[in-house]
Amino acid sequence: RRLLRSCEDKAGKIFDAKFNSNDELHSQEKLIKLSEGCDGILSALTDKLDAATINKLPESIKILSNFAVGFGNIDLDAAKKRNIIVTNTPDVLTDATAEIGILLILGACRRAPEGIEAAKESNWKWSADYLIGKQLTGTRLGILGMGRIGQAVARRAKGFGMSIHYHNRNKLHSEIESELEATWWESLDQMISRMDIISINCPHTEATHHMIGSNQLNLMQKHSYLVNTSRGEIVDEKSMTDHLISGSIAGAGLDVYENEPKIDPRLKKLKNVVLLPHIGSATIEGRVAMGEKVIINIKTVADGHTPPDLVLETLI
Ligand code: GLV
Repeated sequence: RRLLRSCEDKAGKIFDAKFNSNDELHSQEKLIKLSEGCDGILSALTDKLDAATINKLPESIKILSNFAVGFGNIDLDAAKKRNIIVTNTPDVLTDATAEIGILLILGACRRAPEGIEAAKESNWKWSADYLIGKQLTGTRLGILGMGRIGQAVARRAKGFGMSIHYHNRNKLHSEIESELEATWWESLDQMISRMDIISINCPHTEATHHMIGSNQLNLMQKHSYLVNTSRGEIVDEKSMTDHLISGSIAGAGLDVYENEPKIDPRLKKLKNVVLLPHIGSATIEGRVAMGEKVIINIKTVADGHTPPDLVLETLI
């Protein structure tokens, strides 16, 4: 895909690079064909590098440098079997993504989409009970996945007076837990049934696929909200939409979807959802720094070293 101009200029100086000048969404066949004669691929989250594709890549490919912190678009096992290194862009988009998480929490709880629409259409009149939302102070936020982004959301949420709860494979180091005044829940289901807001911040892997399915949605309280800035596949989108329509959960804030760029048409009609088009890392600061990382990762591998952002199997 196209990158920011400054990043492409730099890549062009360092590498003998083929660019995707029209920013096309290449088919898998085209990706394979274009990678002939190349040592590495700078991929985006829209490039599906599944096992079938990776197995057909030319022998010369040594690295898949993904322009994203998530790497669910790449089959790590297949890459490993072919000795192809996979890298991502962690850290530099943590704050940007956490900001979108907070925006979605606020937007859903304070009914921003309805307010924006009414203001633009000038069809509103102040009254004591108009567009009443939920105040964040004192609410319980349950974070699913307490890695870098989850912790950044927690820090910001604390500033809004929310109490922090989390479900993660591992309990955080006690110093971080005390700083965030965070409570660890070993059981996801138990946490979900007691929270006012659930924020999804874990990576999409086989283990997290549909981790929020109909059972979990059934456990959520009627007044609670679901926010997802990670990957759409972690939530069963159809079931979530059913729950939003029936009112068994209060609302949702979503930046990611199961079949991007498609969104369940029923979801788009709802008032109690804030929908954004996968812009978690879309800040100038984030995208420039991501561009730096993808280049550094390729260059390090080309120079025969271990790249700084090697995706570790332990993340799977
Ligand atoms: C964005 O979704 C990313 O994974 O970087």
